[in-house]
This record gives sequence, structure tokens and C-alpha cells, in this order.
Amino acid sequence: MQDPIIRINGVGKTYEGGFEALRRVDLEIRRGEIFALLGPNGAGKTTLISVICGLVSPSSGDIRVAGHDTITQYRAARKLIGLVPQELTSEAFETVWNTVSFSRGLFGRPPSPAHIEKVLRALSLWDKRNNRLMTLSGGMKRRVLIAKALSHEPRVLFLDEPTAGVDVALRREMWGVVRRLREDGVTIILTTHYIEEAEEMADRIGVINHGEVVLVEEKTALIQKLGRKQLTLQLHTPLSRVPDALAPFDLTLADDGATLKYTYDAAAREEGEHGIAALLSALKTAGIRVKDLNTRQSSLEDIFVDLIEERA
Ligand SMILES: Nc1ncnc2c1ncn2[C@@H]1O[C@H](COP(=O)(O)OP(=O)(O)OP(=O)(O)O)[C@@H](O)[C@H]1O
Ligand SMILES: [Mg+2]
Repeated sequence: MQDPIIRINGVGKTYEGGFEALRRVDLEIRRGEIFALLGPNGAGKTTLISVICGLVSPSSGDIRVAGHDTITQYRAARKLIGLVPQELTSEAFETVWNTVSFSRGLFGRPPSPAHIEKVLRALSLWDKRNNRLMTLSGGMKRRVLIAKALSHEPRVLFLDEPTAGVDVALRREMWGVVRRLREDGVTIILTTHYIEEAEEMADRIGVINHGEVVLVEEKTALIQKLGRKQLTLQLHTPLSRVPDALAPFDLTLADDGATLKYTYDAAAREEGEHGIAALLSALKTAGIRVKDLNTRQSSLEDIFVDLIEERA
């Protein structure tokens, strides 16, 4: 495998006053991936991003971005990074164009009106380029933050809750922008409280809780591994108990005797032996008639909630 673009090695952060916000975090971010960092409020997501970006100094450990140490080679590392912060702060009287152009200069890049234009157009801000920031809507201000983060052509983009408080249409638009950046080879790390956003966008998922990375996994593998399905069967005639012939299946009979629930995982679905077809044929053989049925799949959200509760 290619060298990871970010290597986080034993990073801890204890804030002044003694609060331990990060505990020995080890994490590698792959070149060109979209990595979603999930965790409840106060878990340490923004702290971790701030440490990687060199805005907060770690209490222990070290971080390399494309081989550059974020402390001893701060400028080289920082130049490769674009950061869209969680909090909106802006120079209210500046225009969109000036704000974004200035931001590029901060990273020592020569002016490039062509690049700034490309970024503003991609974010549907071109028509607003001469507007002062205070005249923009909340969603537009958020897009200006993204434009600023892209002004110096970073190779890694951090988006700290990019779509908080953003309407559904704009959220979809932002997902489009992020996908296009990835196609250009930009590595993306995003935090979000909208689990469906991670489900939609991410290649890999990391979960952080109480300052510890408790899980890192490919998204599809995670859903395959932990995701379960449930089949609910409405029976024609109530049963007093689950018949012995159906013992090989993990079935529960509701109190009314007329509802059977079958919980199975992705592996069982593929094996066949304990799959739905096998169950239905076993029901038929046992003379049990089914009136109606439906299935439900656990989402990334169910998995996430279970994981956080387990460790609360
Ligand atoms: N400057 C600071 N001084 C002391 N404690 C801090 C400081 N910044 C953050 N913390 C604490 O560190 C913990 C992690 O905060 P952080 O902002 O990293 O969480 P988060 O995962 O980004 O949460 P959210 O989802 O609410 O944005 C919190 O308990 C917070 O109160
Ligand atoms: Mg945060």
C-alpha cells in the first residue's frame, strides 16, 4: 500500500487545567481517501483536527503530513492542508473575492486569479464575488469558508462539520464539491453529526469517544460486519411457541403469538442455509402460513449509537 498521507503517532492532548481531550491516538490517513471522523459532542474531533493542523500543540506524540513533521516542519506541513473550521468567523466588511485571495497569500502562494475564479465558480459563489461577507446568507458564508480553505490548492482538506445548519439542497451540493475534490486527488477528512453523511460519502470511518479512537474501519466492511437485518413475519394463525423444526433459526415470537421476528446478519444472508429462502421453506414445511412480512436493515446510525453506548 502507498504511504499514508497523514501519520498520527501516540498523540495525546491535555488542555491547561488538566482536561485530557486526546489519549494516545494512532491513526493513518490514506492518500486520496474520504475519512469520516464520528463521535459525540466533546469527543475530541476538533481537538484532533487542530493538533494535525498545528493550531493546538500536542502534549505527546508526533504527526507527519506527507512526511513533514507538523511541529518542526510546520510551514511545509501546513501548506498542504486546507481547513474548514467548525466555527464561523469572518471579516464582515471584506468582499468574497478579497477574503479568498488573501487567504491564498497567507500560505505563501503567488496570486492566481484563475484558481480563485475556479474555486468560486465550483462553490456557486462567482455571482457574489463582490459582495461583502456580511451580506451573505449563512449557507453562503459556509461556502466562503470552503473557498478560503481551497485557495492555496491544498492536498488534504479538513472539513469540521461542513454541513451543520445547512439545508438539504446545499448539503447535497457540498457533497458534490467534496467528491470532485477527491477526483482531483485531494484527501478529505470530515467530521459530522449527520451519520447519513458519513454513510453517503466516506471510504473509511473512524469513531472517537472520550478522546480515544475506538474504531477505524472501511465503511462497507463496517456495515457488513455489524449491520444486521430483521425480518418480521405476520402469521395467519397465532402460535403458542416456536416449533422445534424452526430451532436452527434465531427466531423470537411476540406475545401475541402472531408475529415472528428473525434477526440475521449479512453473512447468514449469503450462506443460504440460514437465509430467508431457507426460513420461508421451513415455515411452509411446518405448515405455518405467513400473512405479511417486512425487512429492516440496521444503518450506520444504529451501529454508531450501539458503539457509543457500549463505551459510555
Ligand atoms: N481550549 C480548551 N481548553 C480546555 N478544554 C478544552 C479546550 N478545547 C476543547 N476542550 C475540551 O476538550 C474536549 C473535546 O473538545 P472538542 O472540541 O475537540 O470536541 P468535538 O469532538 O469537536 O465536539 P463537537 O462535536 O461538540 O464539536 C471537550 O470536553 C472540550 O470541553
Ligand atoms: Mg468539534
